[in-house]
Amino acid sequence: MVYLRHWLAGGALLLPLVVAVDPRLCQTGNEKLPESQFTLKEVEDSFLPELSEIFVQTNSNVSVADVLDSANRALVQKSPPLGNGHPVESWAWNSGDEATSKWYPQGVTSSGDALAAGKWDGREAWIVTWYQKTGGKNVRLSFVDRDTHQYRHVLLVEPSAPDDFKPVGIHAGGIMWYGSALYVVDTHGGLRVFDLNHIWKVADGDQVGKKSGGGYSAANYRYVIPQIRKYDWKALQPDSTFSFSWVSLDRSDSPDTLLVGEYTKDDTNTPIRLVKYALDYQTRKLRTTNGVATATFAHCVDILRMQGGYSLGNKFYLGRSNGESKGSDLFVWSPGSSATARSQWLMAGSEDFSFNPSRGEWYTITEHPGKRYIVAYKKL
Ligand SMILES: *[C@@H]1O[C@H](CO)[C@@H](O)[C@H](O)[C@H]1NC(C)=O
Repeated sequence: MVYLRHWLAGGALLLPLVVAVDPRLCQTGNEKLPESQFTLKEVEDSFLPELSEIFVQTNSNVSVADVLDSANRALVQKSPPLGNGHPVESWAWNSGDEATSKWYPQGVTSSGDALAAGKWDGREAWIVTWYQKTGGKNVRLSFVDRDTHQYRHVLLVEPSAPDDFKPVGIHAGGIMWYGSALYVVDTHGGLRVFDLNHIWKVADGDQVGKKSGGGYSAANYRYVIPQIRKYDWKALQPDSTFSFSWVSLDRSDSPDTLLVGEYTKDDTNTPIRLVKYALDYQTRKLRTTNGVATATFAHCVDILRMQGGYSLGNKFYLGRSNGESKGSDLFVWSPGSSATARSQWLMAGSEDFSFNPSRGEWYTITEHPGKRYIVAYKKL
């Protein structure tokens, strides 16, 4: 039974009405939800096989090592100005990336997500997502070499024909690297998957896609990574909204799980939820039945402005942003308990989190121009 308030001329009246309640909504703000109601439809990209062949035939398919070895920018080691936590490492971008209002960094993952051994092709790397805020919609990734602290940006693209691709215009609030797969969140759409077995070298040119004179370009980025599949929320739950705000990997679950969380600004009637999906470590896909991935965990949590998080054992480590000039809060929470807060423990503008079991560290990034860092903390 749900009470809807009807305001009539001269006074308010409370009418009891029987309404089908969406079982995915939160009533108390801290309850468990039915996992079966949180499903994603797996959709493979149909243009990828043919498009991929073009880049293989032209010797334009390259590796992560090629991208790292062609790094053309350098991080700057700097102490962060805010936050009570003590990072073991903190790095700013080069001056252009630090200051730009065109691109905003949002998501972070590392080679510690990719493989339990912590390295990919013998390399330790961070990958950071940036979304384009002005002058078009795109997502770029920074590949950061943790040995040299040099990096290069690469553009994400989506196949649009058997011989063409287009920009990916999503917010890319979080990223998780699992084997060769890169899971990137698409706020109200679900998850997009990109694959490091497909990194394509393109020519110079302002446009994104096939050039009129032949060949391809990508807004003057040297490499593109195409989308290979997606996990679609709306296809299965068209009338119920979920915000895929950030994502992380939990290797302490068996099987491994992918955790997504919701950023909610200030509306107390909007649900704030954490949901997990099981992963298949051999195919690097979500586990599905008849092409549908069903959640293995779904819970409400009462934390506004949740910008990132990761889980380990039965504990969830969650970040809350407090604007540009105040440190972000860190929460430790277990299902069924209330969260404990470490006030302004993190820098201002903390975003996505990523845990790295091979180093006993976790990472976050901060988004505001002039205050942009990659920060590493020891395991809590
Ligand atoms: C493209 O390059 C990657 C990395 O070297 C490799 O794993 C993959 O098999 C290549 N793809 C094809 C179709 O040759």
